[in-house]
Amino acid sequence: MAEQTDKEAPAEAKPSATSLPNPPPLPLRAPQAAVLSPSPSRQPKAGRRGFLKGVLALGAFLTVVTFVPWGQYLSSSVTHAGAYTRQKVVADINPLNGSGSGKTVNVSDLTTFPPNGSWLITYPTSGDLTLDSQNPDTFVKWQLIRLPEQLKGGSKDASAFVAFSKVCVHLWCSPNYDPEKTTLPANESYQCPCHGSIYRVPDGLSVAGPASLQSPPNNAIPLLTLSADAAGDLYVEPPVFDVNHNGVVGYGRYVPGVTEPLTPADEPYKQGSPYTTIDAKFNPG
Ligand code: FES
Repeated sequence: MAEQTDKEAPAEAKPSATSLPNPPPLPLRAPQAAVLSPSPSRQPKAGRRGFLKGVLALGAFLTVVTFVPWGQYLSSSVTHAGAYTRQKVVADINPLNGSGSGKTVNVSDLTTFPPNGSWLITYPTSGDLTLDSQNPDTFVKWQLIRLPEQLKGGSKDASAFVAFSKVCVHLWCSPNYDPEKTTLPANESYQCPCHGSIYRVPDGLSVAGPASLQSPPNNAIPLLTLSADAAGDLYVEPPVFDVNHNGVVGYGRYVPGVTEPLTPADEPYKQGSPYTTIDAKFNPG
């Protein structure tokens, strides 16, 4: 038989298209599929592995969850519908906030939040104090000020505090509270470092610098409405950000009874002020 095959081979060296051998029959099932499909006998083992993995993951989660500072996670100040909500006041985590850093503000706590002190806060909040504290956007930052003793800052209620926007209504620099310059009767102590605008405490009217020369409502700093609960914790009431209420951040707010910018004729605000040079510069005449 072997000899017969060798002899016939030369005649088939140049096969024509019609003389190609038939292809081998296709296998009934691809071999790969047979390898990838788990056998019925292995399925219970995979189920046990999945269960054990789940138990291990749950154990790891329960171990970590103990150390998460859940107290720092507050509810957001804005609902899904976009409405502002009442928000407990917590000082940003910031070295500038001293011993008040990261603390809930309580009106009875005269040690952590003493009269003539100030702290940086965030409103609206994201619901995460750490994220809020790291947020550099001054349009959500406010200077919480506990008034000097002369202005009843020792009162253990919300009237002892004001919260001013950190955005100057002149050109959007960030004013700061200077506890050394609470000159009565003007209390010119919320000052912008860029061009010298000074906002009066506690109503936020600008009494010096370029902001004081702008027409209402562009001559007063926006502020938050504050309240305290029975335990003394301070809250921000849902603001109305328009010029007739809490103001528009970076734009201004109407102060009741103020219908025009201050002029040198309004000197009662400025007597004894250390800013007479600035006043003369920006209030000519
Ligand atoms: S930006 Fe504040 S005084 Fe100009």
